[in-house]
Amino acid sequence: MKIIITGCDGYIGWPTFLKLCFSKRQLTILGIDNLSRRKWVNEVGSNSETKIFSMKARIGKLKKIKLNTKFNFIKLDLLEKNKVKKLIQKFKPDAILHLAAQPSAPYANKSLEKSVFTSKNNNISTLNLLWSLKELNMEKKVKFISTTTTGVYGAPNFEIPEGFINIKNFSLPFSSLGGSWYHITKSNDCNYFWLANRLWGMTIYDFRTAITLGTSTKETKKNKFFKNRFDHDYYFGVVVNRFIFNSINKKPILIYGKGLQKKPFIHLSDVVDSLCNSLSLKINNKYNVYNQFSETVSIKNLSEMIKKYSKLNNKHIVIKHIKNPRVENETHQMKMKNNGFLKVLKRRPYKIYDAIKDTMGDLKSQYS
Ligand SMILES: NC(=O)c1ccc[n+]([C@@H]2O[C@H](COP(=O)([O-])OP(=O)(O)OC[C@H]3O[C@@H](n4cnc5c(N)ncnc54)[C@H](O)[C@@H]3O)[C@@H](O)[C@H]2O)c1
Repeated sequence: MKIIITGCDGYIGWPTFLKLCFSKRQLTILGIDNLSRRKWVNEVGSNSETKIFSMKARIGKLKKIKLNTKFNFIKLDLLEKNKVKKLIQKFKPDAILHLAAQPSAPYANKSLEKSVFTSKNNNISTLNLLWSLKELNMEKKVKFISTTTTGVYGAPNFEIPEGFINIKNFSLPFSSLGGSWYHITKSNDCNYFWLANRLWGMTIYDFRTAITLGTSTKETKKNKFFKNRFDHDYYFGVVVNRFIFNSINKKPILIYGKGLQKKPFIHLSDVVDSLCNSLSLKINNKYNVYNQFSETVSIKNLSEMIKKYSKLNNKHIVIKHIKNPRVENETHQMKMKNNGFLKVLKRRPYKIYDAIKDTMGDLKSQYS
């Protein structure tokens, strides 16, 4: 099987690429990335807390290991349509795992310029891939797998289904309540996928990915060159990373307002394993949507889990509530279905408390 994986230098892309490379199956894997995530994090004055090696060094180390799979990495910007098309034409993939995007809501919300950039980067990249397949008459043969986000659902007061709402026997795609300029790029992607399926019969697997936590997977632990990134800055560090970073550095955890609103979360290993499993799903000419989350947890509860784990390690953590600068329902109880996703994962997902323990353990060993 031949697989193109975009965004393979990223937080989710790298461990996914790595797991595929270590697969016992006869896979040929081509990783693509323009290395922009590293640049964006530096641009906002930060860096990954874990020491991550360059793609050149990572691939060099990987090539020294005897593996069943064939793999390669190419630095390429998905906005370069002609190069993208030529690459697909030459490589002839059976599946495209599209994980490349500008993934930060605060970064996209920073200014008009960042919002336009995010929109262009994310949506034109997706269109370039979809249209390249169409122009090469490959649209019915290639599985297109992508990670959008649970953020496209907003925070409605009903149990969120996996992708569609049924009204009078009509299945309506549900994906347009994103609350940031980044989330709207993902809502747009969902619309593109739905259209590519309706117009061209393309098989799409759209994973609505939840807030992902964890620094490592089985494969990233195999060698220091394979370490994954951990960001904790305002722009690229998700809320749980910022809490964990503060607690390790003996700073208080700051919760905006009551913090009783629940959000969906998932362990990085569950994301990676389910994406790798999805490569075995059939070409069914459908738009398939999965809610890729394991638990909904309130922000307050999240901070209490971090406090509990810190206490077990003899560290006392202070949790402070501060005035909420955001407009949000601080008590929203999110409910979401994930039956389809659990079938793809094929095992029980990790508990969020375990994901917190793993992350804090990984970072602690980094300091010692
Ligand atoms: N991490 C999460 O919590 C989370 C949650 C929901 C959805 N997602 C989605 O999952 C995907 C992966 O997220 P991530 O956290 O690994 O982000 P990431 O920023 O770590 O990875 C994305 C990768 O794509 C690359 N990239 C961006 N634009 C590109 C372009 N034009 N051409 C080539 N490469 C490009 C970046 O350099 C980066 O390495 C994204 O689509 C993101 O929106 C992530």
